[in-house]
Amino acid sequence: MDLGLKGRCALVTGGSMGIGKAAALELAAEGCRVAIAARGEQALENAAEEIRGRAHAEVITVRADCTRPEDIGRMVEEVAARFGRIDVLVNSIGAAKSGHFLQLPEDDWRESLELKLYGVIRCCRAVVPHMQRQRWGRIVNLIGHRGRQPESRAMPAGVANAGLINFTKALADEFVRDGILANGVSPCPMETRRLDYMVKAKAALEGISEDEARAEYLRDIPIGRFAQPAEIAALIAFLASERNSYISGATISIDGGATRGA
Ligand SMILES: NC(=O)c1ccc[n+]([C@@H]2O[C@H](COP(=O)([O-])OP(=O)(O)OC[C@H]3O[C@@H](n4cnc5c(N)ncnc54)[C@H](OP(=O)(O)O)[C@@H]3O)[C@@H](O)[C@H]2O)c1
Repeated sequence: MDLGLKGRCALVTGGSMGIGKAAALELAAEGCRVAIAARGEQALENAAEEIRGRAHAEVITVRADCTRPEDIGRMVEEVAARFGRIDVLVNSIGAAKSGHFLQLPEDDWRESLELKLYGVIRCCRAVVPHMQRQRWGRIVNLIGHRGRQPESRAMPAGVANAGLINFTKALADEFVRDGILANGVSPCPMETRRLDYMVKAKAALEGISEDEARAEYLRDIPIGRFAQPAEIAALIAFLASERNSYISGATISIDGGATRGA
């Protein structure tokens, strides 16, 4: 399927690794000019080099800490200045903390929501005016399973994700008549750096081995394996494309069947 993305310009936050890097590669392979943003310079450069090599596309890097509103403003202006437009925004940032409710420090709550919820909201707010001027835009927010399936030891992730489901729907309703389609993609635990964090946290909290923690996560996934980032990237690219002409405000679970009753 030709997604109609040739010549479009995309910004992928959290694009240096994991799902964001896979999404940036998929968009580049479809003909987009791609900007990837994150904090770590080396990982950004490595990812850009890999994507250029594999997709033969233009890839630029922007260092930005998406917990800092001033970084977000600078990032969006840099990308808009370089490309002249921003057609696609993929937000793939987030690292909410796990812990027992009564032990989770205030700072863990604050940091989790600052990045995963406010960071995404601020990135959208900075990019939407560019899309409005073009009368075309696609926004894809990476959300997460715990937004619909709460887990007591992962409350910050659940709260941020539930907020993002609500925000993404409201954002979509507000701007759909400007030609902007905003949607969410919601994976369950999958094979990225984040899974290592989650496995270690679960093992420590429950006093079980990391192998047991991994197995417990897997037990909740009917398909019986963790997803690879490329599997999520294919859905992101479709939602970000011209071929998506009618999906607006949805948060699509992509989780091997793990979500129940939604
Ligand atoms: N992996 C899963 O199991 C899973 C499941 C459901 C939902 N998700 C969601 O999917 C998204 C991507 O997850 P992932 O597993 O691909 O994560 P990942 O492999 O840890 O990658 C996270 C990316 O975000 C960047 N990042 C982190 N903090 C940042 C900050 N303050 N400012 C700017 N960039 C920042 C990282 O680079 P730097 O650290 O260098 O900044 C990296 O590029 C997240 O929103 C996550 O909540 C993941």
